[in-house]
Amino acid sequence: MKTQVCIIGGGPSGLLLSQLLHLKGIDTIVLERQSRDYVLSRIRAGVLEHGFTELMREAECGARMDEEGEIHEGFFISDHEDLLRVDLHKFSGGQTVTVYGQTEVTRDLYEARDRMDGTVIHNVEDVVLHDLTSDRPHVTYRAGDETLRIDCDYVVGADGYHGVSRKSIPKDVLKEYEKVYPFGWLGVLSRTKPVSPELIYARHERGFALCSMRSQVLSRYYVQVPLTDKVEDWSDDAFWTELQRRLPSEVAGQLETGPSIEKSIAPLRGYVAEPMRYGNLFLAGDAAHIVPPTGAKGLNSAASDIHYLYHGLLGHYRDGDDSGLEGYSEKALARVWKAQRFSWWMTQLLHTFPDTIAYDRRMQDTELAYLFSSEAAQRSLAENYVGLPF
Ligand code: APR
Ligand code: PHB
Repeated sequence: MKTQVCIIGGGPSGLLLSQLLHLKGIDTIVLERQSRDYVLSRIRAGVLEHGFTELMREAECGARMDEEGEIHEGFFISDHEDLLRVDLHKFSGGQTVTVYGQTEVTRDLYEARDRMDGTVIHNVEDVVLHDLTSDRPHVTYRAGDETLRIDCDYVVGADGYHGVSRKSIPKDVLKEYEKVYPFGWLGVLSRTKPVSPELIYARHERGFALCSMRSQVLSRYYVQVPLTDKVEDWSDDAFWTELQRRLPSEVAGQLETGPSIEKSIAPLRGYVAEPMRYGNLFLAGDAAHIVPPTGAKGLNSAASDIHYLYHGLLGHYRDGDDSGLEGYSEKALARVWKAQRFSWWMTQLLHTFPDTIAYDRRMQDTELAYLFSSEAAQRSLAENYVGLPF
């Protein structure tokens, strides 16, 4: 097979890029290791920045998001009994975020690729990237007993943190930065009315908690747990009791509980790989960087990569101008690090760290007290939460 851009990974990053390029007449093939059902069964975060929603509209995939997504003009931070509303709209010059699940985003992107007869090949095995530093790279994969080959101009590694693309870059070229947090988030999805119309990020000495949602009838909640905990350790009752303890009592009293329809534990990690280009391979999204979920920057960081890469490829194919591709890694990383900084800041502000020293605990108290009392601090939080410009 032959294509212009071979995209490894059919998650939101790969699909969005494929869709955007298709609309400009640039041919792509997407290779995905899993089945579509598997990809669409993964529950991920659900807060979209303006820049991401704009890209979805540009990709002609925004209709359902615009209809069913909820616009949020603010969110809450609680500290035991104290509750602060961060007015995103007021402090970010009128910007907002859209609450719409990543699973739905992915579903919309698959539907658009189908509509336009895009090539997305599922269940591929043993993907290998070849000749990345030549101007004729190619990709091979296995389907059953057959090995197939795709010749292309460029390879895009959008195959997530565990993908093969980043691992195809020689070790002496790649510099990795990583911070592993000593806790995880236990998440529960339930068919219940959200406890609050806007998200609540709760700090508590027993550990962090988050009240989020997918719609007004579908709630998503999280509690911080030790890394040693297993999902089986947590009955639904134990989860609801723990969540209630970590919320201000007036909020906890309103909590509607019900059976969980999904329950999982995710570890928290910050990770960045540099550079994001090697020869004719470009990394995008989780393949190059991971953030802890506090602040909901995972998918939104992928969106800025896709924006830069899309414009870089467009420059090449449409105008014969390679400057966008040449500058891709540097430009993408500058924004990636800002999202890392924000996620790191929110994580250390709101979580209970085991073995922390008394001085650092006081510092966390003081940082939070400052945020609660200072409009300047809330403005900075709002600016980052709605998303820095691309
Ligand atoms: N070959 C083909 N596909 C692969 C391979 C491989 N060797 N390895 C992984 N994949 C697929 C995965 O099955 C997955 O569907 O690549 C896809 C990568 O998707 P995501 O992990 O969702 O990553 P990305 O598309 O960059 O999405 C951005 O931001 O923080 C996050 O949770 C957020 O998933 C979201 C991400
Ligand atoms: C979610 O709804 O799953 C969610 C929302 C906000 C976050 C993280 C996760 O910061």
